[in-house]
Amino acid sequence: MGTVILGTGSCLPDKIVTNDDIAKIVDTSDEWIRTRTGIRTRRVCGQDEQTYNLATRAARRAIAAAGIGVEEIGLIVVATISSHTLMPSSACLVQKELGATKAFAYDINAACSGFLFGIDLAHKYVQADHGMKVLVVGAENLSSRLNWSDRNTCILFGDGAGAAVVGYRDGASGYLGANLRSDGSLWELLYMYAPKSSNPDITHEDHPGTYIIMEGKEVFKHAVKAMEDAIHGVLAREGIGLDAVKLLVPHQANIRILNKLAERLQMPADDVVINVSEYGNTSAASIPIALDEAVRAGRIQEGDVILLCSFGGGFTWGATLIKW
Ligand SMILES: CC(C)(COP(=O)(O)OP(=O)(O)OC[C@H]1O[C@@H](n2cnc3c(N)ncnc32)[C@H](O)[C@@H]1OP(=O)(O)O)[C@@H](O)C(=O)NCCC(=O)NCCS
Repeated sequence: MGTVILGTGSCLPDKIVTNDDIAKIVDTSDEWIRTRTGIRTRRVCGQDEQTYNLATRAARRAIAAAGIGVEEIGLIVVATISSHTLMPSSACLVQKELGATKAFAYDINAACSGFLFGIDLAHKYVQADHGMKVLVVGAENLSSRLNWSDRNTCILFGDGAGAAVVGYRDGASGYLGANLRSDGSLWELLYMYAPKSSNPDITHEDHPGTYIIMEGKEVFKHAVKAMEDAIHGVLAREGIGLDAVKLLVPHQANIRILNKLAERLQMPADDVVINVSEYGNTSAASIPIALDEAVRAGRIQEGDVILLCSFGGGFTWGATLIKW
């Protein structure tokens, strides 16, 4: 198809928050969090660190890896649910920070599936215009959107950003296809309200705050099945068997979800990229961070077929197949 990922990059805040640190805030323990989620630490933004700062740093690394100049970028898409400004978009702030004056820029919201939806969008742009280079970033400052007195959620999430530059290379296989899905009817299982309305006619008296709210057990069940179905769907559509897949780069929600998914797919643990123990769930940032770490560790080589898969609020989910 010709759509290729030219370079990847990522950025994590320096501040590390351990499970023991969280146990000082809510009634939980390192042992409970580790056994139920696999998470040991997460990174959290410090002073003056916003979503767009992380996004910009990840973007600079992706652009350097792609070996292009910022002036070559035609579009910047930031996938996020935690932009500190609703307007302008995080993407516009990234554009300013990079000095990417030729690019137009906007955010998308598909929760933890945002990066996969963004890459698919980029694919369509570069297919329509082969000279186009799209910077896709998944970036989150979820620590600013957590209820730090709710132990059901505050233990799970972290901050970070990952980025990819998408372009076109004649004759390359590259992006093979995607199976992207949504089901808005299940939104109440995982959501975050916008800030309280300032229109008195539609003020929500019981506004719970702009925090992530979740029915963990239900989300768990849906996540495993949805990602498994999405993967089988994209493989069947492209006529590729799972045995041809070198590496699975899944959304990093929870080690039990990932283990169950690998078990159902009968994939060896070594073929699955896992970093949830270090960073927790970084929503839209989780796949591009894992992808960048796998690329930099040499786990992905030219010609390898890799699978990305996601599940998140909305619900949104999907699987994407790329020949590197
Ligand atoms: C959140 C999750 C770890 C909870 O694990 P679980 O085994 O389902 O636990 P439950 O919610 O049934 O709670 C079991 C007990 O632990 C308690 N508990 C919940 N969070 C706790 C915590 N952080 N520390 C200690 N106890 C906790 C509950 O209150 C409950 O106590 P009770 O039995 O006295 O009522 C799990 O459901 C999960 O990972 N779900 C998927 C979440 C996710 O990945 N979301 C993002 C998708 S993109």
